[in-house]
Amino acid sequence: MYQRMKGTYDVIEDAPYFRAVERAASEVSRLFNFKEIRTPLFEASELFHRSVGETTDIVSKETYDFTDRGGRRVTLRPEGTAGVVRAYIENKLHADPRVPGKYYYLGTMYRYDRPQKGRTREFRQFGVESFGTKSPAVDAETLAAAHTFFRALKLQDALTLHINTLGGRESKANYAAALRAHLEPHVETLCADCQRRYQDNPLRILDCKIDGDSEAVQNAPRTLDHLAADDRKNFEEVLSHLDALQIDYVVDHALVRGLDYYTHTVYEFKVDAALLGSQNAIGGGGRYDELVETLGGPPTPATGFGIGLERLIHVLKQRGFTPREGHVHLYLLAIGEEARRRTFTLAHELRLGGLVVETDLLGRSVKAQFKQSEHHQAAFVGILGETELAAGTINLKDQATQEEQTLKQSELLKTIKTRLNGRSKAPDCSDCTEKGSQK
Ligand code: HAM
Repeated sequence: MYQRMKGTYDVIEDAPYFRAVERAASEVSRLFNFKEIRTPLFEASELFHRSVGETTDIVSKETYDFTDRGGRRVTLRPEGTAGVVRAYIENKLHADPRVPGKYYYLGTMYRYDRPQKGRTREFRQFGVESFGTKSPAVDAETLAAAHTFFRALKLQDALTLHINTLGGRESKANYAAALRAHLEPHVETLCADCQRRYQDNPLRILDCKIDGDSEAVQNAPRTLDHLAADDRKNFEEVLSHLDALQIDYVVDHALVRGLDYYTHTVYEFKVDAALLGSQNAIGGGGRYDELVETLGGPPTPATGFGIGLERLIHVLKQRGFTPREGHVHLYLLAIGEEARRRTFTLAHELRLGGLVVETDLLGRSVKAQFKQSEHHQAAFVGILGETELAAGTINLKDQATQEEQTLKQSELLKTIKTRLNGRSKAPDCSDCTEKGSQK
């Protein structure tokens, strides 16, 4: 017996949830005019080293690396931004006069992380990236897209947007120096990785899974006190745009994010720990104004976010949402051989008309067919016996109200569609509905 690899799982019952959130992501991207981009699942390892950063946990401990048959060092993508930036440069998307250049993606990412609730080794993200301007309005527009996405899934009140700024290159360097000075007396007490990070990249100590909660780290200086005046002003503009859009946030000066490419605005969407445990960030993002240039492109400021779909679905389930799809509209039940032949063709006609139809293909007894209709939780059951067959009618039973009626087979499609359309729908989301309101 083969078993799935640790930290991976098969999507079976959850597939309708994925389709629902992926549809919401595509629809929100369409409204905000983000074009879809699909980049490869694997890239040259060097790309992630240079972008995400050598000293980050992601690159130093969590990548799936291998050497391919041509001797190239290859990495399964641990996140989406690096690949999109590579594609942006390689396909000369910076030549597009439409600025900002806006892209979204849905895809699988790989991190060799310790599996636990909300953390797997294979997971999916919805992400957007917006290239070509430093304008704080673009940070706000990107955040508005995330907000609209969460709203479509009725999650806006389950999440808090934590936001901070790291400032530009100079502010980041000032802050790193202040952090080093603060941590100097504690270096000996830090883990081996953090002792290295102390030299190379002290910001990474703040999100270390071992030292992150230590007193020295908790009392570390805050980014805000080391910001250049322009950087502070830029951040205030982002916040004032969010105010104008009535998007709530909490300024969190301890937030630095775990990837090296960020400058200026950084943020995370967090849910209550009761909903998701310690992995309570559903998504995160921010500005990365130097990454395009670092990877060999022209200087191009950019900003974006990534949202983890598994964590999102976990929260959706806890909030009692079920996807609208996956329901059988009609089970066609046949009494007798002639009727069975007709239900076979009728099912086909109704499917062409847009209904989800099941019928018996196994020659089951009437009792067994009724049982099947229950297993399928069909909204309607259509019963075809000799009398109905002769008259071109069908006996239709509404499983929600238990009402029965005999109608012409030619009216079946319209009747069921009208009845289904009249049923309660969640107002803001075409895919999700409160538990119990379906059917
Ligand atoms: P990130 O914070 O590393 O950012 O990941 C974003 C989201 O992916 C997390 O908030 C979480 O929901 C999900 N995620 C990360 N690791 C795991 C895991 N092991 N299991 C399940 N879910 C996980 C980025 O990836 C950046 N590329 C976001 C970005 C885009 N920044 C700018 N543009």
